[in-house]
Amino acid sequence: MFQGKSVLVLGGSRGIGAAIVRRFAKDGAAVTFTYAGSREAAERLADETGSKAVRTDSADRDAVIATVRESGPLDVLVVNSGFAVFGDALEQDPDEIDRLFRVNVHAPYHASVEAARRMPEGGRIIVIGSVNGDRMPVPGMASYALSKSALQGLARGLARDFGPRGITINIVQPGPIDTDANPADGPMRELMHSFMAIKRHGRPEEVAGMVAWLAGPEAGFVTGAMHTIDGAFGA
Ligand SMILES: NC(=O)c1ccc[n+]([C@@H]2O[C@H](COP(=O)([O-])OP(=O)(O)OC[C@H]3O[C@@H](n4cnc5c(N)ncnc54)[C@H](OP(=O)(O)O)[C@@H]3O)[C@@H](O)[C@H]2O)c1
Repeated sequence: MFQGKSVLVLGGSRGIGAAIVRRFAKDGAAVTFTYAGSREAAERLADETGSKAVRTDSADRDAVIATVRESGPLDVLVVNSGFAVFGDALEQDPDEIDRLFRVNVHAPYHASVEAARRMPEGGRIIVIGSVNGDRMPVPGMASYALSKSALQGLARGLARDFGPRGITINIVQPGPIDTDANPADGPMRELMHSFMAIKRHGRPEEVAGMVAWLAGPEAGFVTGAMHTIDGAFGA
């Protein structure tokens, strides 16, 4: 489906990002992905999929912009890099919270704008948000919830900027997905499943399937929208 298409995934070495890299590579795209700390995992994934791994810290705005520029022109940009800081808001290190905002909010904004400069008509931008952008049922994750709800404004606004050029931008909002960041056998398992209609963690491949559909030819009329995949966590 993506033969001849150029795809960049920011944050592709592990978890949901790695599943997205595998999916686009399997479907014939030329895939570049970034990583920050997981060099070995990135090199293994690049070998396995025939994709290209580039070290770029999503907290570094200028590095993100440079990587997007050097990888372009892109048919598809996926911004997946993101993380949560847990704990009492009154006790948290403000520098760590600001780093979260740089990775989870600033990088998606600047990468999307840079990608759109040279993106052809039919281009696709997909950002991985979270159902926590809609619903935050536990304490200690306000910064994460804030960052993921900010992406909703990003998509609504940039859809207007890029729509006339036939470029779409969408947010995929997963619920609990089985990755290193949220393992299916982790301590929060029972609590998370208690909120859900389908009482299991999702699989990274299920998220990658939604991303592939949004990036594909059937989704050209879908933009400025949030796409929740969460077993009804947020329902
Ligand atoms: N798992 C869930 O339950 C869940 C639910 C909702 C939303 N999400 C969102 O889905 C996305 C992926 O989550 P995940 O569960 O797959 O997390 P993960 O297992 O921790 O993997 C995170 C990936 O993002 C990369 N990354 C993190 N910080 C980065 C940085 N500063 N620069 C470049 N790459 C960076 C990591 O690369 P390195 O290891 O190389 O640093 C890794 O490839 C995140 O945006 C997360 O908020 C996850």
